[in-house]
Amino acid sequence: MQNAATARYGLTNVFRTGSRTQLERQRRLSTPVTRERAESRDEVAWPEVVRLAARGVALILAVPHDSLPHVVHWGPDPGPLSDDELRAVVAAAVPPRATNGVDSAVVVSVLPEARTGWTGTPGLSGHRAGAGWSPWLRPERVDVVAGLGGGGRVDVLAADPEAGLQVGVLVEMLPTGVVRMQAHVTNTASGPYAVERLDLALPVPTRADGLWDLAGRWAKERVVQHRPFTVGTHLREGRHGRTGADAATLLVAGTPDLGFAEGEAWGLHVAFSGNHRVAAERVFSGERHLLGGELLLPGEVELQEGETYRSPKLFAVYGAGLDGMAARLHSHLRARPHHPRTPRPVVMNVWEAVYFDHDLQRLLDLAELAADVGVERFVLDDGWFSSRRDDTSGLGDWVVADAVWGQGRFRTLVDAVKGRGMQFGLWLEPEMVNLDSDVARAHPDWILQLPGRMPVDFRHQQVLDLSHPEAFASVRDQILALVREYGIDYVKWDHNRDLIDAGSTRTGRAGVHGQTLAAYRLLDEIRAGAPGLEIESCSSGGARIDLEMIEHTDRVWASDCIDARERQQIQRWTAQLLPPELVGSHVGAGRAHTTGRELDLGFRAATALFGHFGVEWDLTAASPAERSELAAWIRFYKEVRSLVHTGTVVRRDVEHGDLWVHGAVAPDQRDALFAVTLRERHVTWPAGRVPIPGLRRDLTYRVSAAGPGADAPYDERVHPTWWATGIELSGAVLADVGVHVPALDPDHSALLRIEAMPR
Ligand code: GLA
Repeated sequence: MQNAATARYGLTNVFRTGSRTQLERQRRLSTPVTRERAESRDEVAWPEVVRLAARGVALILAVPHDSLPHVVHWGPDPGPLSDDELRAVVAAAVPPRATNGVDSAVVVSVLPEARTGWTGTPGLSGHRAGAGWSPWLRPERVDVVAGLGGGGRVDVLAADPEAGLQVGVLVEMLPTGVVRMQAHVTNTASGPYAVERLDLALPVPTRADGLWDLAGRWAKERVVQHRPFTVGTHLREGRHGRTGADAATLLVAGTPDLGFAEGEAWGLHVAFSGNHRVAAERVFSGERHLLGGELLLPGEVELQEGETYRSPKLFAVYGAGLDGMAARLHSHLRARPHHPRTPRPVVMNVWEAVYFDHDLQRLLDLAELAADVGVERFVLDDGWFSSRRDDTSGLGDWVVADAVWGQGRFRTLVDAVKGRGMQFGLWLEPEMVNLDSDVARAHPDWILQLPGRMPVDFRHQQVLDLSHPEAFASVRDQILALVREYGIDYVKWDHNRDLIDAGSTRTGRAGVHGQTLAAYRLLDEIRAGAPGLEIESCSSGGARIDLEMIEHTDRVWASDCIDARERQQIQRWTAQLLPPELVGSHVGAGRAHTTGRELDLGFRAATALFGHFGVEWDLTAASPAERSELAAWIRFYKEVRSLVHTGTVVRRDVEHGDLWVHGAVAPDQRDALFAVTLRERHVTWPAGRVPIPGLRRDLTYRVSAAGPGADAPYDERVHPTWWATGIELSGAVLADVGVHVPALDPDHSALLRIEAMPR
């Protein structure tokens, strides 16, 4: 007798393996198959259940012939399963019908459909003048590539001819165990089809009882928040027209014990720098889902016959603990061919040193002092162009300012910087204009706006409509001309306002979708036209940090707040998505400009050390002693950057979170750098021993005080006995027993270098 699941999925399987080996199975599945090749509807020519696995993570997908695939399992890899076992997994996942419900089990596909009786959020929402609003998408072509533990993909093209729609869904298991998904919808009938939403969804297990995501604001980005995963929808919408300082970044469902090292985490990230949404949903049944996609404004995407809308890419990451999840994302990013691999140069950015007060002599002095302390890249920030003397004018006119920078003065600075062996970087905000600018006066129709009304001012600026081909070409050509004329090595690419009432004068429609795609294109064309140019993504600090933007840029500016105490938190959680070599982190002035907090140079530098290190401080106002201490920190950064920028990030809370442990452990686990930071004065004095995890349990390590601060004279009231000489301990002892670190004052760090002893 067939049970519900076998009846639904059928027993006919042209890939039934019987006694075949897994390798044979892999080869067979790699052949694209089409419905046309199947002899009858009963002999379906594509696999019914597929296991995609990599690095300890598996996706088990049912791929029925009459509906889109659905994920039966996403999480820890149960290992290779026979066809029968796979079918049993599917059978076990079919819920009982339950009284007073739909007469067949409600199965939720990767693009959930309301027509099944699903009352959660449908994946595709749209209509054709009121019709075609509840499609039934049946596969027409299924392409499955399933390797043995090396990842794979399921690529399905489905259609509803009645609704005039064709929908593609691609689910990939990347070799790092990261799942990447994307969907598209094509209008195959005459008459326009309005797309309202194209979201993809993945289930998480019942044990994922909690939700974690990030929130934030300008200068306080990526604050973690936590709630139970209750019935209803926890929806995080980004309507800023940019990623947002308050972006969820990753919406994580996790087991109740989830921590950096403990528990399990399932996270979803929408890789998009425009409006987007991500949600965690539980409706009537026990199913729990994470879903997300672009947030489209009314009428923003209307497809004519033959036109296609593509969703952003979604990244789904499973990890053992939050560190496991971060490590998986970091490996994914580090495996990209274009990932920055050269040593990340020490940056000097002049914003907090001079703001708009551009005086050539002062900047030359700064460049001189910067080179003396070991800076390798000098970045001239806002204020160098056209009429830009403050933030009210000049944006959009990307020409060197005559009044301040004319008569060769700009060239003098570039030459002085390069003459001292430093790269030259420049601030730009290519997507923006001030109304008080030549470009806005000449082309008011190049500004995103509504008929008869300009959007509300935001930092005195408006948004250039990049979907306008002439506007796009004009800004691209100005930037390329500048980069080529002055040999600019690096651009800090800023984006300082939300897209509000962002209508295109060309189409009359909401323009955030088009603007976001055009910004990616602009970045790509500039990179193609200026090989070797590196670009930093900045947006009022850290409001444009997502996995699509990082495909078009080389690092992000995490926050306008460089107060090291705040930065510890910002960097701790930015690391949930990005590895440290992609995250700019600068040493600011002794008194932080954004908070007024006074912090020691040792703490400011130890904090910047765990990112892409830079300086954003008026060194002409720093004392010679401070400059020589800074130079020592820069020398230390250069010593450890290859370790920090390839290492595994390890984070721990100790003493109820009063002490933070942050480490970078080399991939071979033979070398590590750890910072132990006192966040709050703890109730005991000194605090307890600090575990140093992430090392090989069977190796013996030499643990020593590290960094310029390690030179401080030994003081038995402050330092543990081992501090002056170092100590040898096994990885097991370091993790399970721990060591005492110096008795720290709040907002101070102790650095430990941990190196494996030769056997
Ligand atoms: C934004 C950036 C800052 C700085 C200013 C310049 O706020 O985040 O770092 O570049 O713009 O106007």
